[in-house]
Amino acid sequence: MRILHFGDIHFWRLRPDWDFYYPKRFLGLANLALRRRHKFPPHLAWRAARAIVEEEADLVVFSGDLSTMSLEAEFRDAAEAFAPLYEKWGDRLVVIPGNHDRYTPCSVRSQRYEKHFPHGAFPEGERVVVREFGDGLAVVGVDASRPFKVRSNGLFDAALEEELDARLGALAGEGRRVVLVGHFPYAYPAGVEAAWDHKMLRDEAFAALVARHRPAVYLHGHKHIRWALRDARTPDTACINCGAAGMRSEDVRMQAGWVSFDLGADGAVGGIEFAHLVEGAGVGREMVKC
Ligand SMILES: [Fe+2]
Ligand SMILES: [Fe+2]
Repeated sequence: MRILHFGDIHFWRLRPDWDFYYPKRFLGLANLALRRRHKFPPHLAWRAARAIVEEEADLVVFSGDLSTMSLEAEFRDAAEAFAPLYEKWGDRLVVIPGNHDRYTPCSVRSQRYEKHFPHGAFPEGERVVVREFGDGLAVVGVDASRPFKVRSNGLFDAALEEELDARLGALAGEGRRVVLVGHFPYAYPAGVEAAWDHKMLRDEAFAALVARHRPAVYLHGHKHIRWALRDARTPDTACINCGAAGMRSEDVRMQAGWVSFDLGADGAVGGIEFAHLVEGAGVGREMVKC
């Protein structure tokens, strides 16, 4: 089966929200006004969504960061851009939130993400969602995103670890192929740093859990660079970072794009293709190994 993976599309609106007293609100707004809006030109996000709907895939996964500051208008834009994708793939489009979709306590409490992406909502009180497909495949989404006052971390706390451990354990008993989806990396290529204020806290516990359950693939984003690697701690799992779907860059692996790959019946991962939007028109493609 062919899987298309994208994330970090980051729709944005330059406006304050009523919980402006939350530190990240005004820091985020200043950063957006000065820097981020040039890196994430809205036409690229819309173009990425239009290009992806033209692709052939059996399953499509979005690994978080629909929005920039969890604003109502940002989620509305994202929902509009995703409507043709839901129309084409229905339940075979799996969406999870990223840290930007859990930006402030207020935006989490008011369930903005869930309101605009009801198919991407997790069951009440749970942070792991399992979507089972008829062909022996289970997609497991994990939500380690929560608001931090200033930083952009995720948190893989002990309760989430226990929840994920139990769900993956049950699936192993059924002999399912597992595609694990989170927002944050736990492994990085040489030369790419896991910044202390940007990484998933307790990511070593996450790596240990992946080593125990050996999903075929771990799909994530957050760090806006496409990569595919196998970490020495988890050699049975291909770690794929889809890069940002809405970012402009001279570097093709950072330029707006996505990843697609084949997942065999035995869980083998192959045919990995990195795609990016070429400035002006067209899609550039690169085959990579993992
Ligand atoms: Fe992001
Ligand atoms: Fe992120």
